[in-house]
Amino acid sequence: MCGITGYIGFRDAYPIIINGLRRLEYRGYDSAGIVLYNEGKLNLVKTKGKVSDLESKVANSIETGGTLGMGHTRWATHGIPNDINSHPHVSQSGNIVMVHNGIIENYDTLKKELVNRGYTFQSDTDTEVLVNLIEEVQKQNDVKLGKAVQIALNEVVGAYAIAVFDQRKPDEIVVARLGSPLAIGIGKDQLEYFVASDASPFIEYTKDAIYLEDEEMAVIRLGRKVKIRKIKDDSLVDANVHELKLNLEQIEKGGYEHFMLKEIYQQPSAITDTYRGRLLREEAIIKMAGVEDNMKRFLNADRIIIVACGTSWHAGLVAEYIFEDLARIPVEVEYASEFRYRNPIITEKDVVIAISQSGETADTLAAIKLAKSKGAFVFGICNVVGSSIARETHAGAYTHAGPEIGVASTKAFTTQITLLTLIALRLARAKGTISSSDFRQHMLELEMIPKKVEQALKSDEHIQKVAAVFKGATNFLYLGRGYNFPVALEGALKLKEISYIHAEGYPAAEMKHGPIALIDENMPIVVIATNKGHYDKVVSNIQEIKSRKGKIIAIVTEGDETVKDIADYAIEIPETEESLTPLLTTIPLQLLSYHIAVMRGCNVDQPRNLAKAVTVE
Ligand code: F6R
Repeated sequence: MCGITGYIGFRDAYPIIINGLRRLEYRGYDSAGIVLYNEGKLNLVKTKGKVSDLESKVANSIETGGTLGMGHTRWATHGIPNDINSHPHVSQSGNIVMVHNGIIENYDTLKKELVNRGYTFQSDTDTEVLVNLIEEVQKQNDVKLGKAVQIALNEVVGAYAIAVFDQRKPDEIVVARLGSPLAIGIGKDQLEYFVASDASPFIEYTKDAIYLEDEEMAVIRLGRKVKIRKIKDDSLVDANVHELKLNLEQIEKGGYEHFMLKEIYQQPSAITDTYRGRLLREEAIIKMAGVEDNMKRFLNADRIIIVACGTSWHAGLVAEYIFEDLARIPVEVEYASEFRYRNPIITEKDVVIAISQSGETADTLAAIKLAKSKGAFVFGICNVVGSSIARETHAGAYTHAGPEIGVASTKAFTTQITLLTLIALRLARAKGTISSSDFRQHMLELEMIPKKVEQALKSDEHIQKVAAVFKGATNFLYLGRGYNFPVALEGALKLKEISYIHAEGYPAAEMKHGPIALIDENMPIVVIATNKGHYDKVVSNIQEIKSRKGKIIAIVTEGDETVKDIADYAIEIPETEESLTPLLTTIPLQLLSYHIAVMRGCNVDQPRNLAKAVTVE
């Protein structure tokens, strides 16, 4: 969702901020803005559209000098995407300027009070209310900016990450967070500071960063160490300085046309990174500290509840099959957004697994807090190190997939499944629900998955040809059974979100209960028909589609001639254990969506209306 970046120091702020905004584009946005302070003056430009539109507008309108500034990419919540609603917002006096991520829920009440006090508003945003509230608090109490921000935030209900400065005091930026991430980059000798929604805008300048925790704020002043305070009671908090492991190469396209394609191709190495050091095949051991340390909780669990959203929820569905099959633990998979609001029955004997690539998804975070309040043990599976979900859970494990920048999740999905498989295998071994030989066999197969993904990626050219045939379709159906039913859902989601073609995923056998009515000669149907599991049943489903003239794109195990003969197009994947097939069947579906979207001229990495981390509910 929205992205914040800011700079205060000795360098020209403009290139740092504009590059920072480009790096934050992946978060999803519909407008952008920048403010620079130079020689007693604020230069502010905002526009609907992309960062490139902002750059053109800046080139035609303002001087770009100045060593203090902030930028913002906005994903509209209050007020449509237009120039006026874009950030930064300036207070009525023209002195205080602010960028904000999140939602101020009581903005209407606050706005009415401010209107009664003579404030007028240009935009429809909650942000303009907050910046004016800060100004009013400062006036009423005659306090410094930091104190005014603190008092104002104590009147606010909602979620936010904010960065604020006052042009009358251009040596400081005030930042605060509740529910949206905010990182502070520390320059050498405190001669410069960076502020951003994640560390990507400043990694070439410093490796030292502080991540604000919820309900914390800081006054960042040049030449002074950053002090972190609690917004509620002003108490000082230890500032943990993290050493950033991220490097520039990881957040660049590296020769690929899109981040999504790069990330699809990174899956062999990402999956290896997920199991490295955890899957010790020669010793026949799987170990993960977060699981080992809490083994009793897992083994005594009445059930596992998985909470997640979107693609991560699909990984949870795959995990349901794996946990129940291998470890014989009952599993329920819940949309976090539904779970949090439906008064679920949760007991102290439940283990809740929260899955999230970004670790910032608001609904998943709220579901975790609810589960914790009922005494459940909550285990997090995240990709982003140090993210809110990683910190909020009792224990957890990282997927180590590396930054995922394309909005459509690809390597996050396969690495989540890899990690969940490791956990299921570990628990199965501890519970004795898997034989020693099956355990070894699964480890061996899992270790071979990266090579097999590489092999699956070799079908790319063939998939491009299939994509060219179907790029004009208006609807798609995706069918799969067992372990590959969630993959059908994921395939349909991938296509919808990046190509804007309507697609639905179904368990293959459910087709007869409704969707079969949709089938005619114009309907492409992707069927996952690997030679494991319910192969014969799926072959029957394919026959049923064929008799109704549907166009079949089948994902088959290499060497399968039966389905190849019936299907219009067949894409091969290597053979593996049934429980591991999702790691392979997903690959052609990702590539198919990618190529169709590219051929339709869609913005693959930043699909319309979507955000990488959904930090509002
Ligand atoms: C789809 C996609 C989304 C996310 C969902 C959850 O490609 O990326 O559906 O999976 O928003 O995000 P995380 O995993 O960050 O909690």
